[in-house]
Amino acid sequence: MPISNCRIIELPKIQNPKGNLTFVENSVHIPFDIKRVYYVYDVPGGSERGSHAHKNLHQFIIAMSGSFDVVLNDGQQQKRFHLNRSHYGLYVSPMMWRDLDNFSSGSVCLVLASEVYSEDDYIRDYATFLAAAKEGV
Ligand code: TYD
Repeated sequence: MPISNCRIIELPKIQNPKGNLTFVENSVHIPFDIKRVYYVYDVPGGSERGSHAHKNLHQFIIAMSGSFDVVLNDGQQQKRFHLNRSHYGLYVSPMMWRDLDNFSSGSVCLVLASEVYSEDDYIRDYATFLAAAKEGV
């Protein structure tokens, strides 16, 4: 899938002086059904995460707290997204190499995913990813 499918999506925000509320519904606000939720936290300064692609997984990444960058690469083009608000998220389509870096201290990265965890869905070798992306697999 081309990188143009990956985009920042603004989520509903119910504003209240007592605190704001944001929600995400299956296939309404994001283009897939959610089967798994995970989060990355306590990230030491200077850490880089990701460095892999998924064959079939759709993901939606939200900076629940703090900020970080997601660098996406479809094998031809690369795009850097800065996430720093809880009511925005980044939709990441399958076959997209991703690197996450520039984590602020105390940041929390929430990921909504279309499938349960499967190591078979990962491509962790960049050369293998490039070859697969070229074939359109
Ligand atoms: P990984 O997806 O490589 O993390 P990141 O992209 O944030 O660097 O996952 C790190 C480890 O956690 C890896 O051994 C697989 C395991 N893991 C699970 O067991 N279940 C999950 O849902 C996820 C996302 C990872």
